[in-house]
Amino acid sequence: MTPQIDSTGRLRHLLTLEGMPRATLVQLLDRAGQIRDAAVGRVGKRTVLAGSAVCTLFFEPSTRTRSSFQLAAQRLGADVLNFDASTSSTRKGETARDTLKNIEAMGVRGFIVRHPDDGAVQRLADVAGEGTALVNAGDGRSAHPTQGLLDMLTLRQACGGDFSKLKVLIVGDVKHSRVARSDLHALRTLGAGEVRVCGPASLLPDAGTTAGCVVGTDLDAMLDGVDAVMMLRLQRERMEEGLVPSLEDYHVRYGLTVERLKRAAPGAAVLHPGPINRGVEITDEVADGPQSWVLRQVANGVAVRMAVLEHLLG
Ligand code: CP
Repeated sequence: MTPQIDSTGRLRHLLTLEGMPRATLVQLLDRAGQIRDAAVGRVGKRTVLAGSAVCTLFFEPSTRTRSSFQLAAQRLGADVLNFDASTSSTRKGETARDTLKNIEAMGVRGFIVRHPDDGAVQRLADVAGEGTALVNAGDGRSAHPTQGLLDMLTLRQACGGDFSKLKVLIVGDVKHSRVARSDLHALRTLGAGEVRVCGPASLLPDAGTTAGCVVGTDLDAMLDGVDAVMMLRLQRERMEEGLVPSLEDYHVRYGLTVERLKRAAPGAAVLHPGPINRGVEITDEVADGPQSWVLRQVANGVAVRMAVLEHLLG
């Protein structure tokens, strides 16, 4: 039993996909799919969270996660408070814990938290009051569970619902990626047929993280016949740390080009969580091309986050 599940088996917080029961994961994906399909062509507002207040508590920058959680909460009828650490009393030294407890005292029931430190959201969940739910919107390199869910929803949409038939390749800075960790947990739980992980040796994680995966450093070989390619953002600070010789070198060895993509299965889906370093991990032609699912990932993010908020707070 993970700390996010209460004694009755109910999901109280969403902190990680690691150890999440398959039934819960599938339930969230099914609900997100329903919400997405019902929303086609219209932007209806629901009332399931009417009278509730939700706070996006971000101690790191974000475009997609924060905006889509805001939209998701608003579409469910909640009031939304956007907390920006850069203009808050965090600048005066107030701790994340005190920040959470003060906003909670205002009657906020849901917190969407992004923090640079591993385990920070779990620690905040430990001090949250009864009836308050936290969602991890990315902590350190540990977890980004709603990104993992929206990636799985996108794979379902692109490749069909039978994960046992899927060959999926994850490429790039896997070592430092919370997205990759959440994707790997979800792919294992959903029984993906084959998961390959590829990147420079300096950016590959420990063997435990990639247990059960085919791991390699040769992108051309690893692309052979895959149904989906999940590209990761190259975090530029890795170059400053000396883990990558140069952006040009990285692109030559690990950049996804139209030519390279031909090695994958015909019509293979290309995913990227964003933000994209165009011309580094992926070319414009691939990012904007017919096999790109990048913007559909973003669209699925709103539906997934509505499903999660509804599940936790509805
Ligand atoms: N994918 C993702 O987490 O993007 P943001 O950092 O813009 O939220």
